[in-house]
Amino acid sequence: MVRKVISITKSVPTIEGAGVHLKRAFGFAEAPNLDPFLLLDDFHSSDPERYTPGFPWHPHRGIETITYLLHGEVEHGDSMGNKGTIAEGDVQWMTAGSGIIHQEMPVGDKKNLLWGFQLWANLPASQKMMEPRYRGLTAGEIPLAKLAGGVEARVICGNVGGVRGPVRDIVIEPEYIDITVPAGASFTHPVSSGHTCFAYVMEGTGQFDDKSKKAGPESLVIFGDGDGISVSAAGTRLRFLLVSGRPLREPVAWRGPIVMNTKAELDLAFKEFREGTFLRHKGVHME
Ligand code: CO
Repeated sequence: MVRKVISITKSVPTIEGAGVHLKRAFGFAEAPNLDPFLLLDDFHSSDPERYTPGFPWHPHRGIETITYLLHGEVEHGDSMGNKGTIAEGDVQWMTAGSGIIHQEMPVGDKKNLLWGFQLWANLPASQKMMEPRYRGLTAGEIPLAKLAGGVEARVICGNVGGVRGPVRDIVIEPEYIDITVPAGASFTHPVSSGHTCFAYVMEGTGQFDDKSKKAGPESLVIFGDGDGISVSAAGTRLRFLLVSGRPLREPVAWRGPIVMNTKAELDLAFKEFREGTFLRHKGVHME
């Protein structure tokens, strides 16, 4: 059964980090409907004052943060000793597990343009305190699937027409795909029944089931259950992110950048951060 659209909402202007103006597609209030996903931010601006303050050193525990950059760069460093630049088309898939401390500082391109996304995915109780894991993928490592009708998909995680993304072995069995559909063309894709599935429109306008209203740029489209999706581009080229994953159905205790199962675990994490005992991993400690 093809999944039906259950909601279309616009992302909302928000200020995060040290003063970064971004648009939030969903966050704390909406997360119960998007399990195992917690948050999706769209940072898109040509005004350096709106992003240069960045996200200075801060901790994460209990989640994965997935950064995908379309324009500009993000300079980053973390307590595991990873340091570098996320460039155009690159992905950083960071599993915080028991805890990392990192910073993420955006830089615009030659035209001062910055455009990227950060998705937060939850970890199950059994994996929240796992060893942190960092995966940096360059644009060239992300395969392009070419499909009928001129549809193209950059497969970061998942499988499109036999093309498999490089990110594998993630507990929630996610798919994360950047899809471009030419004007008038359509895209169908299987999505495991029972998995949460949403799309986020980057460019153009599309119809995400055969009866839904059209969704334009900065729209979050949430699908109901079913075993696949069918999306068609309206009058112009449509580009969207498609994300799906297996829900965890566990209690969520969430404060800022740390997401655990209970308030006691959350309080302990913040106490450890204050007292300098937060990091469990080996590597360069930033405190
Ligand atoms: Co962060």
